[in-house]
Amino acid sequence: MVKIAPSLLSANSASFGKELSDLETAGADLLHFDVMDGHFVPNLTFGPKILKELKKISSLDFDVHLMVTNPDACIPWFAEAGADFISFHIETSTDPIKTIQLIKNYKIKVGLTLKPNTDIKSITPYFDLIDLVLIMGVQPGFGGQKFFPDTVDRIQLAKKLIGSRPILLEVDGGINSQNASACIKAGADILVAGTSVFSGNSYAENIKALRGDK
Ligand code: DX5
Ligand code: ZN
Repeated sequence: MVKIAPSLLSANSASFGKELSDLETAGADLLHFDVMDGHFVPNLTFGPKILKELKKISSLDFDVHLMVTNPDACIPWFAEAGADFISFHIETSTDPIKTIQLIKNYKIKVGLTLKPNTDIKSITPYFDLIDLVLIMGVQPGFGGQKFFPDTVDRIQLAKKLIGSRPILLEVDGGINSQNASACIKAGADILVAGTSVFSGNSYAENIKALRGDK
């Protein structure tokens, strides 16, 4: 079954502790933790101290999405704070093999991601070294944006290029109950969702709707 990774970016930051326990009760599989540096993207979010403290009170796996200009400097901070997955943008690494190895040294799962306009072929040389590919459905930087419809073709292409390798395919940005099924059909294993999980009255119903459960 597809895994759902609610994005902390859309949670109420005045009550992160309660939000995390509500997400667990509602059936979330992972917590998506967006790190933005105000440089690679025009927004600022969370640092390693928040991750460390939330990790102590949650049994969810933390899926860190680095949107930072200098991933090699930031990886040790989030790895030591308790990240379970760390994904970095191919656009930001001068030596992707070195960056992948840096994450692996901490025995953490490695993800590679790319902006919507970056050619998927730019990440394929690293497919034998990574655990996860993250396809963006929007330009990174903010929650609540509209899903680019051609993302579905990109998921399909990534799936084809991954072939039989044991790589998880994750999609992030603009996912809602209308476009989730197309992403799943195209090959997505994990759906990140901010706005569509945290709106309305029931996180459990929202998560179910994303999975396609009635
Ligand atoms: C965007 C972030 C996403 C964001 C998704 O740069 O990487 O993880 O939180 O939020 P929604 O689901 O609202 O697009
Ligand atoms: Zn993200």
